[in-house]
Amino acid sequence: MGLFYKLKQFNRLLHNHQRLTSLMEDAIALAQFQIFLDDQEYFPYSSMALRPFSMAFVLNEIVINQRKNLIEFGSGLSTILIGRLAKRNNLDIHCVSIDENKDWIDFLQKFIVKEGLSKYIELVHASLAVSNKFQGNHHWYNINTLKHLQLKKYDFILVDGPTAFNDDIKLSRYFAFQYFHELLADNAVVFLDDAGRSGELEVLNMWKNDFGLKFDIYSETFAVCYIGEYFEACPVKTGKSTI
Ligand SMILES: C[S@@+](CC[C@H](N)C(=O)[O-])C[C@H]1O[C@@H](n2cnc3c(N)ncnc32)[C@H](O)[C@@H]1O
Repeated sequence: MGLFYKLKQFNRLLHNHQRLTSLMEDAIALAQFQIFLDDQEYFPYSSMALRPFSMAFVLNEIVINQRKNLIEFGSGLSTILIGRLAKRNNLDIHCVSIDENKDWIDFLQKFIVKEGLSKYIELVHASLAVSNKFQGNHHWYNINTLKHLQLKKYDFILVDGPTAFNDDIKLSRYFAFQYFHELLADNAVVFLDDAGRSGELEVLNMWKNDFGLKFDIYSETFAVCYIGEYFEACPVKTGKSTI
């Protein structure tokens, strides 16, 4: 058996092992926040949403580190679950969630209103504008739509948008900190989803160089950066790597 073939086989085994580990982490994490999926009108859990591991991390973080001023780029089930958590635990939080798709925002808004979550969740539609900072068609939300959000500090920033899945737009999430770095509170947490992709890995390196933000990647896909002291919020003991 040639060396190349052996390496390929080893690589496949490693990949399968990582995949199985992620599935187990997701199954354990899902059980932790199942209460927010039961007893409510069904909201679809699609592959576009955060993985259960990352979702549980976010919900744990809000409670255990008492986050109050939240901003989320990329709305969805995560937004709904943050609202349901805030209502159930009677939390004093405000979460602004920004998305590029007006129909999606309208769809979410119906759930927010029907479930009485408007006190906690503010949905903002922002169309995308292409930037010439990098080669390609990298885009970010039109900053003029977000000016009113730049008046206060945030202790929780979740970057799960805008769409950044192909080469032409893969650095798009970089802009979150071009515009919001100054608005990080002294004690804060930053999350970046899809951190296993090449574009997000580049973004993490650029954030480190340009803004001094150092991230750990948990469970292969979820990058987390703490600023200041914190209690552990990771839902499952897992491997993490430092950027
Ligand atoms: C990047 S995802 C963010 C997901 C969110 N943070 C969550 O965890 O649920 C948001 C974008 O995905 C798109 N999207 C969400 N669910 C979708 C679905 N089931 N099918 C297609 N697009 C979807 C929406 O148009 C929206 O612009």
